[in-house]
Amino acid sequence: MRHLIDFGDLPREEWDSLYARASEIIDNPGKFIDVCRGKVSANLFYEPSTRTNFSFQTAMLRLGGTVFGFADPNSSSVAKGETLKDTIKMVSGYADVIVMRTPWEGAAKAASLYSHVPVVNAGDGGHMHPTQTMADLTTMTRLLGGVDGLSLGLCGDLKNGRTVHSLIKAMAKFQNIQFFLIAPRELAIPDYMRAFMRENGMRFTEVTGLEAVIPQLDVLYMTRIQKERFVDPLEYERNKGIYILTRRKLDRAKKNMLVMHPLPRVDEITVDVDDDPRAVYFQQARYGMFARMALLEHLALQPRQETVPPVEIGTKPVCTNPRCITQTQPYLPPLVKKNGGVDCCGFCDAALR
Ligand code: NCD
Repeated sequence: MRHLIDFGDLPREEWDSLYARASEIIDNPGKFIDVCRGKVSANLFYEPSTRTNFSFQTAMLRLGGTVFGFADPNSSSVAKGETLKDTIKMVSGYADVIVMRTPWEGAAKAASLYSHVPVVNAGDGGHMHPTQTMADLTTMTRLLGGVDGLSLGLCGDLKNGRTVHSLIKAMAKFQNIQFFLIAPRELAIPDYMRAFMRENGMRFTEVTGLEAVIPQLDVLYMTRIQKERFVDPLEYERNKGIYILTRRKLDRAKKNMLVMHPLPRVDEITVDVDDDPRAVYFQQARYGMFARMALLEHLALQPRQETVPPVEIGTKPVCTNPRCITQTQPYLPPLVKKNGGVDCCGFCDAALR
């Protein structure tokens, strides 16, 4: 693995070795304080973030490396009209690894075409968020002993929730997983995710009610309704507050079920749930930092690639997803990939029409 753009691209053996490393770090963090000494991470955050940005920063600092970057794109040259390509060419001349978060889907993939150093996708619009998945898998493995055979309820905004998409991608690498996808119809998982699950023979049931399925779950993964991704504010108003996990609802859950959440929480888990031993979301955030340490160690120590293969400029990209990176960066090549036999954009996964 050279970049981490989509968890689906990470072979299972590489995940296993990253997890083994994360686990070693959790058990003995003091042993790793120098492994990235002299290494520099560029954190380019074009979209608000608290947890993920802090988590990547502290991960690098705890490895003995340093971090620079921005958390507000208005303070970077993007505000002057610089292309993503130029920013990445320049930054990859300064840093050993680039961590980026953007509102544009497929932006990390685009950056990886031009970067001399590894690129990590720290969230690209409503598309993917593979390092949150590293936090999620680390939490499940540490607290439940493994991932195979789990019954997972994913609840909330499954259309725009990038953490959910990455988690589903990852679960295809494990055995005998059962999904309950709990969402209102307008916020159901995107077609490309449904195609992915079918193609990989994954078992999933789409439901609109949370309470009826709670007793069957080993993990309940709650998510926020992603207000900033709604084009129509009325659609948000209709769906906000639709699922609220309370202490009372938890009465019917298994005694060892995990309540997980990528955070930030709005109102989908009441605060009284925090004291239930099954609520592990803050621990999940801490595990995320250790998992990112394992990732940064792996990527930042890779030799810099002096020559990046030329990117062929093809005909104009045909993706019509308004949030796709190809909409704002017209020089990008028209990458195409198949999802469930359908031609899709190689950056954002949306079906090409
Ligand atoms: C998530 C994200 O940014 O997608 N947060 C995070 O990275 N922990 C979830 C969210 O914003 O709802």
